Amino acid sequence: MNIYETINKRRTVRDFTEKLIDTEIIHRILDAGLKAPSNDHMRSWEFIIVNDMPTRLKLIDKVNKNFTREQITEILDSWKANDQCQREMYYDGIPKQYNMLLTAGCLIIPCFRQDYPLLSPSSLSSLNGFASIWLCIENILLAAAAEGIFGVTRIPFETEQPHIKAVLNIPSNYEVPCYLALGYPKDEPNKIKQIQINVKDRIHLTWW
Ligand SMILES: Cc1cc2nc3c(=O)[nH]c(=O)nc-3n(C[C@H](O)[C@H](O)[C@H](O)COP(=O)(O)O)c2cc1C
Repeated sequence: MNIYETINKRRTVRDFTEKLIDTEIIHRILDAGLKAPSNDHMRSWEFIIVNDMPTRLKLIDKVNKNFTREQITEILDSWKANDQCQREMYYDGIPKQYNMLLTAGCLIIPCFRQDYPLLSPSSLSSLNGFASIWLCIENILLAAAAEGIFGVTRIPFETEQPHIKAVLNIPSNYEVPCYLALGYPKDEPNKIKQIQINVKDRIHLTWW
């Protein structure tokens, strides 16, 4: 599969079959992650694979399990999320947060080295470590798509962050950008409509 086919194929998937992912495939996908650009050349990234069920259950314990449609509407209105396509994604995605982490064929917790507080950056370059790990994650998602494996990134809420670090024994100078749930899709990956963007509408020649 060429790179454009893979990019076009990758979609966020939150419903997985029970099929586990071969360790060799996981290694291949994570190795693709480790090929991503890194601000300091060091690729100070570690991956915790949480497929042991009692540990996974403990890890995701603080993720909200129940949302009514009314609650989601309230959230979306407070975010001023007015686009219909965007709202449909959230109505589909928000109630799946707990279950997608629970049922993923492989749950990965990526970690990146962060030697000073991430949440009080003094400049854009203070965020380079955070920016770099997301390039790594995109490489992983693309490599996974090329293998017929899809997934989703969930950003941990504030209460989830210290819990993840405590449960998984993560050193204090490492941060977790997201949970990365991967698996074989239960339905057609393109179930949720994409926002259609014409590239020419986003290109500015010489000036904005
Ligand atoms: C930084 C980032 C944070 C995201 N956070 C979540 C999340 O917390 N929960 C979730 O279900 N999806 C999350 N997503 C997935 C997005 O909802 C998804 O990428 C978006 O709707 C576009 O759909 P696509 O990935 O299928 O193209 C996140 C994606 C990114 C890039």
